[in-house]
Amino acid sequence: MKTELTRLITEKRATVGVIGLGYVGLPLVVEFAAGGFKGIGFEVDQRKADQINAGVSYIGNVTSSKVKELVGANKLQATTNFDLLSECDAIIICVPTPLRKTKEPDVSYILAAAEEIQKRIRRGQLVILESTTYPGTTDEVLLPMFEDTGLKLDEDFLLAFSPERVDPGNPQFLTHNIPKVVGGVTDDSTVVAAHLYSQIVKDVHAVSSARVAEAAKLLENTFRAVNIGMANEMARLCYALNIDTWEVIRAAATKPFGFMPFYPGPGIGGHCIPLDPHYLSWKARQHGFDSRFISLAEEVNSRMPEHVVQLVADGLNDDRKAMKGSKVLLLGVAYKKDIDDVRESPALSIIDRLRVKGADVRYHDPFVKEVSFDDAHTHSGGDPLQSVALTDDELRTSDCVIIVTDHSDIDYKRVCSLTSLIVDTRNALDGGLRRESKARIIRL
Ligand SMILES: NC(=O)c1ccc[n+]([C@@H]2O[C@H](COP(=O)([O-])OP(=O)(O)OC[C@H]3O[C@@H](n4cnc5c(N)ncnc54)[C@H](O)[C@@H]3O)[C@@H](O)[C@H]2O)c1
Repeated sequence: MKTELTRLITEKRATVGVIGLGYVGLPLVVEFAAGGFKGIGFEVDQRKADQINAGVSYIGNVTSSKVKELVGANKLQATTNFDLLSECDAIIICVPTPLRKTKEPDVSYILAAAEEIQKRIRRGQLVILESTTYPGTTDEVLLPMFEDTGLKLDEDFLLAFSPERVDPGNPQFLTHNIPKVVGGVTDDSTVVAAHLYSQIVKDVHAVSSARVAEAAKLLENTFRAVNIGMANEMARLCYALNIDTWEVIRAAATKPFGFMPFYPGPGIGGHCIPLDPHYLSWKARQHGFDSRFISLAEEVNSRMPEHVVQLVADGLNDDRKAMKGSKVLLLGVAYKKDIDDVRESPALSIIDRLRVKGADVRYHDPFVKEVSFDDAHTHSGGDPLQSVALTDDELRTSDCVIIVTDHSDIDYKRVCSLTSLIVDTRNALDGGLRRESKARIIRL
């Protein structure tokens, strides 16, 4: 079966199915379709499937014109009908992997997708898991499900894990030029999965097992969480010592070896960095191992919103104002610049804390029209907030402006000229702006 499938892939006659058309799955299926394969995207959300079939993209890194062209050429289709899985030669799972309230891995989306495959799996298929998860998911959870059908690994089907590294909002690195790690449950699985990705990705790095590939992804994201934690701790330390954190990092980064700059911020957000390390620490606990770096980084990072609110309170206090009743405007609520994703965004916690203290909170974000607050992330609950227009009046009447997300399209010069107090959590205001500014600026 290895030879048959390899030939289908080489001749671009293979049909590639992608389950879950979000930030990860949509760019992937589009890349396969653009690379000459027939791409089928599977969704549970009918609206998303309809949008794709109508040639409309809802993901920043994918243009509607590209989707329209591929749908028109009959290379790309989206569906909620999982029976079409049997038409696919390769099936790639890109569904969410959130945490439960107890911070334990929630692999229910992976299980739901795998059940759809299990019902229809046939001889000749390659299944690849891309959702970030704990080491062992592919061979401990997926393999038994597919073997239960009576089909045999290697003889009838192949199974691999390949982590996704997409960086939403970063136009420099897209699916085709981000190196791809691939690890199969068997050698045949690795070879064929690597061959498939090499059709659309320049650099494919094969590893000896699915577990190594799963662990590599968690190392990458834990590395970021821990180093951002270190930068955040440094920022708080520098604030206490009245030293400019950003100047310290810039200076240290001139060292050409042995140092890699990480930057502080209002806290971590998104579907990866705040969640993925918990997948690793959970698995570690199953083996009696306590991953202390992960716990410490989480503790430091999750306290940053509280620190930002303290900076706002300090700034207002110097203006003889109380937090209660003060008008506070957040610039940006997305978890990082130039994207619309508010999942786990520290802005939600900052808004919640400001509301608890009685501040009149508003926000402006060109990418996010509305934010709502669920019990899991807030103490105050509270009504959803809508983005306000960044008018001169809005800026002038705000007692404090907090730059939470450093979106590129904000006119920071205007912000500095119309506001009296700014808390800059991203170093969005460069030295020139800071010197010219009439506003008092407090930085992390
Ligand atoms: N967003 C990122 O930057 C990023 C980067 C690297 C890895 N990842 C990982 O990739 C995975 C997917 O993340 P995402 O950001 O694309 O999530 P997402 O929420 O943007 O997209 C997931 C999609 O899957 C759909 N879905 C859910 N259950 C389904 C099912 N049973 N069948 C079909 N579709 C289903 C949802 O409707 C949604 O459209 C996660 O494991 C995440 O950790 C994400």
